[in-house]
Amino acid sequence: MRILHFISLVPTVFSLQARGLKIACSQQWIEHTPLAYAATNFYKADDTASLISGGVPNLADRSVDLAGNAETQGLKNYVQHKNYRLIGIIVEVTYRLVANKAAGIATLADLRGKRIGTIAGTSAEVFVRQLLATGAGLSQTDYTTVNGNVCMREPCAANTFPAQLRDRKIDAFGVWETAVELGIRALGGEDKVVVFKNASVYREVYSLYSTEEKLRDAGTRQRIVQFVRALNQTYEVFRNSPDSVYTTVAQTVGVDVPVLKRVWADHIWGPGRLDKELIDYLEREDQYLARVDRRQPFSRAELERFVDTSVYEEAMQG
Ligand SMILES: *[C@@H]1O[C@H](CO)[C@@H](O)[C@H](O)[C@H]1NC(C)=O
Ligand SMILES: *[C@@H]1O[C@H](CO)[C@@H](O)[C@H](O)[C@H]1NC(C)=O
Repeated sequence: MRILHFISLVPTVFSLQARGLKIACSQQWIEHTPLAYAATNFYKADDTASLISGGVPNLADRSVDLAGNAETQGLKNYVQHKNYRLIGIIVEVTYRLVANKAAGIATLADLRGKRIGTIAGTSAEVFVRQLLATGAGLSQTDYTTVNGNVCMREPCAANTFPAQLRDRKIDAFGVWETAVELGIRALGGEDKVVVFKNASVYREVYSLYSTEEKLRDAGTRQRIVQFVRALNQTYEVFRNSPDSVYTTVAQTVGVDVPVLKRVWADHIWGPGRLDKELIDYLEREDQYLARVDRRQPFSRAELERFVDTSVYEEAMQG
C-alpha cells in the first residue's frame, strides 16, 4: 500500500536519500485534491509522491518537482522565473460573486459604490475586477474592495466573507468555493442573493507546474510523466464517479459533503487543453496583471514557452 506523506507543517528536510516526487500546493482548497488522490491511489512509480504546503514559488527550491496553483500565481512567478512551466490543467473553476439583494443589488452595474470582499493579489481579485470591468464597465475606483478570509465550513468566523456579508460589512464577495456557497447560506438562501459568474470572462485555471531543469532530467521527467498518468486516472473518477470521492475530498479539505456537492459542478476536472485558446486566455489575464504590477506583458512567444504540452503528450502515448 502506498503511503502519502503529509509534511506540510515540517520544514523541508534535505536528504541524500530523498526520492519520490515532491509537490507543493495549498492543501486547504478543493482544487488540490486530485493531487492528493492521485498520489494515494494511482501513482505507480516505485516511489511515493508527497505534498508540501505552498505553490508555484516553492519551485525555486530544487527539491520540489511539481506545484499546483491557479494560473494567476503561475503568471506572476514566471516574471522572475522564466524556467517555470505550466504542464497540465488540474481543474477549471468558474468563480462566483455573491451579492446581497437587500443592499439593492440586482445587476452587476448595481455594484457601483458597493463594498466587495476579495483577496488582493490572488485569482479571486482578478476575477472580481475582470467581471465588473467586462460585465458592467466598472473601474477599480467605482467600488471598494475589502480583504477577508475564506470560510470552508460552517460556522464561519467573523473575519470570513460569509460572516461579513451576513453582518452587512460587505455587500458582495467573490472568491473560490466553498466560501461563496456558504455566503448564500449565510444570507438565508438563494432568494436573498444574486450570484454572478461568467466562465469566458474569468475561470480559475488551476494548473500543474514544473521547471525546465526538472523536465530535462530523464529520471525526474519519467516520474512526472507517471504522475500525470495517475492524475489522468483521477480526473476520470472525479468526473464520472463523484459519489465515490465526495467523502474523501470533503475530509481532505474540511468541508461538509452537502456543500461540496452543490459546488462540484463548477469544477471541471482536468486534463483540459493546452492549446491556443489557453494561450489567448493567459495573454488576456497577463495584460491585466502587467498593468497592475507595472511591468511589460509577456510576449506571445514567452507565453508559448511557459505552456509546455510535451509532458502530457508523452503521458498519453504511454
Ligand atoms: C460572458 O462574457 C462574454 C464576454 O464579455 C459575453 O459576451 C457574454 O454575453 C457573457 N455571458 C453572460 C451569460 O453574461
Ligand atoms: C486518460 O484518461 C482517458 C479517459 O479519461 C483515457 O481514455 C485515456 O486512455 C487515459 N490515458 C492514459 C495515458 O492514462
